[in-house]
Amino acid sequence: MKDGKVGFGIIGSQFEADIHAASIRMGRHGDVVAVASPTRAHREELAQRYEIPAVYDDYTAMLEDPAVDVVTIAAPNVLHCQMTVDAAHAGKHVVCEKPLAMTIEEADLMVDTCRTQGVHLFYAEELFFTPKYVKAKEMADQGAFGRVHLVKQSEMHFGPHADWFWDVERSGGGVFMDMGCHGLAFAHWFLGRPRPVAITAHMGTYVHGDKTRGEDHSFAVVEFDGGVIGHVEDSWARRGGMDDRIEVYGSEGVTYANLHMGNALPTYSEHGYGYAVEKAPSTQGWTYPVFEELWNYGFPQEMDHFAAAVKGLEEPQATGEDGRVVQELLLAGYQSAGSGRRVALPFRPPGVRRPIDLLFAPAQDI
Ligand SMILES: NC(=O)c1ccc[n+]([C@@H]2O[C@H](COP(=O)([O-])OP(=O)(O)OC[C@H]3O[C@@H](n4cnc5c(N)ncnc54)[C@H](O)[C@@H]3O)[C@@H](O)[C@H]2O)c1
Repeated sequence: MKDGKVGFGIIGSQFEADIHAASIRMGRHGDVVAVASPTRAHREELAQRYEIPAVYDDYTAMLEDPAVDVVTIAAPNVLHCQMTVDAAHAGKHVVCEKPLAMTIEEADLMVDTCRTQGVHLFYAEELFFTPKYVKAKEMADQGAFGRVHLVKQSEMHFGPHADWFWDVERSGGGVFMDMGCHGLAFAHWFLGRPRPVAITAHMGTYVHGDKTRGEDHSFAVVEFDGGVIGHVEDSWARRGGMDDRIEVYGSEGVTYANLHMGNALPTYSEHGYGYAVEKAPSTQGWTYPVFEELWNYGFPQEMDHFAAAVKGLEEPQATGEDGRVVQELLLAGYQSAGSGRRVALPFRPPGVRRPIDLLFAPAQDI
């Protein structure tokens, strides 16, 4: 820790790595001291943009850097477990991107290794920090909606920005794995982390079958202890840019929040402008640019909270345990869609390499 700031080393140098760097820089408690990524052009560009002093082509070399207190993992899903375990053995705290892992065994290993090595494992679920959604939870916790019985979250756009997401070997699944993990985590967190009891899911590949075996639209209903419900819908088959929203229903009230609308400027331009909102195809014609986009998502608040937690100033709000709950729900969701049945939890099928495998070959007798 230098000048009282937690030193972050970022693994990866593209989409989410850029968000990590920008977000850490916006906070008070941390600084970006290193980046590691195999792609030279990207890592050098990122280092230049954020004035990152140390640049590595191999993350294991970065783990020996004493200036690094925490690593953030912004690399493809298939690499999360190994990177976390290596970082923990090097005595570094870990911020792991979502989804936590490919399998429940990996999730266990990550949580257990970080615990035995005495380092934090933070789960990078920014919806726990998204200001609009935090406001909805504050109101719910104050009793504004009476007894909340249903929480919905949905994220939709026309598909990911990088090739590896389409490759289930590296991603573990399609849109349910990629974005369903947000809604599953959100519902669990919003409702006060009740035990998930069962999940019923439907999913299919409707428009992107030429490039992936992964599903591009998914629905899941999660039943929690006490009879409360989470409804999670996600799409990579929705034209027109990003849509992210929640709905909360209780015995005495209801609230709706659309992450972008209301924080956007309805805009028409023949010529376009600077840069588009995430996943928007263009800045020409009608668009909805969001001001303070990272802040509206909650990324800077999330990263600064992790730095504050490393300093012992705050209790961790998003941990490997949250990621593990989501991991089990992801596996059970694919099992449900594959078998056409409601799947009860605990659900720990042995020997499953990727959650999506259960969509094509559901586990028997579970
Ligand atoms: N929280 C969110 O909303 C959110 C949004 C986007 C992505 N993500 C997650 O972030 C992670 C990264 O996704 P992305 O969108 O940044 O993908 P990306 O393709 O833009 O970047 C992946 C990066 O990983 C690097 N990488 C690959 N192999 C590596 C290795 N062996 N060592 C070090 N770096 C390696 C690549 O060089 C690249 O820089 C994924 O787990 C994804 O699910 C989260």
